[in-house]
Amino acid sequence: MLNELFAKNRAWSEERRRDDPHYFERLSNLQRPQYLWIGCSDSRVPANTITGLEPGEVFVHRNVANLVHPSDLNLLSVLEYAIDVWEVSHVIVCGHYGCGGIRAALDGERHGIIDHWLQPIRDVAERNRDDLDRLPNLTSRLNLVCEMSTRNQVARLERTPIVQWAWKRGKRMRIHGWVYGLTDGLISDLQCSVPALQG
Ligand code: CO
Repeated sequence: MLNELFAKNRAWSEERRRDDPHYFERLSNLQRPQYLWIGCSDSRVPANTITGLEPGEVFVHRNVANLVHPSDLNLLSVLEYAIDVWEVSHVIVCGHYGCGGIRAALDGERHGIIDHWLQPIRDVAERNRDDLDRLPNLTSRLNLVCEMSTRNQVARLERTPIVQWAWKRGKRMRIHGWVYGLTDGLISDLQCSVPALQG
């Protein structure tokens, strides 16, 4: 099984070099991503593939349910590096419908340490209990929590000292909340970008 991965890798590498003999040489000298992607670890939501971006074009951080914990050194290191070194113009938090993390956060079962990780999702659902209770079924409730949680992560990013300090220093980077649909492959903008555009 693993040999298959090496074979596919060789085929991919050869194909790239056939199209452009200097492809890897150029890529290895030039990483200038304009985007930081914060997405779910879900294998069905690969940042480069669904956005059509090439290697070198998007800096990626993924975790279960694309959450922003203010003490997550991994995420904070990626965030600071993307802002200060790559000077990305856009930070994108991309949630997705059908997220197993969202479902696990709300199913009332004990899963293990992941329950601690997923706490912000339960908090969001709790704060919006009335809106959720009005929806007709579980799928529509989970979809709404997915959107609410994604917006919440944008707000949590906005409040990090890294982002606040970057804006104070005049960096023009914006943060966006998007959601991806597993069933149609389409990304929607949740219209919660910060800072809001003037006018
Ligand atoms: Co997910």
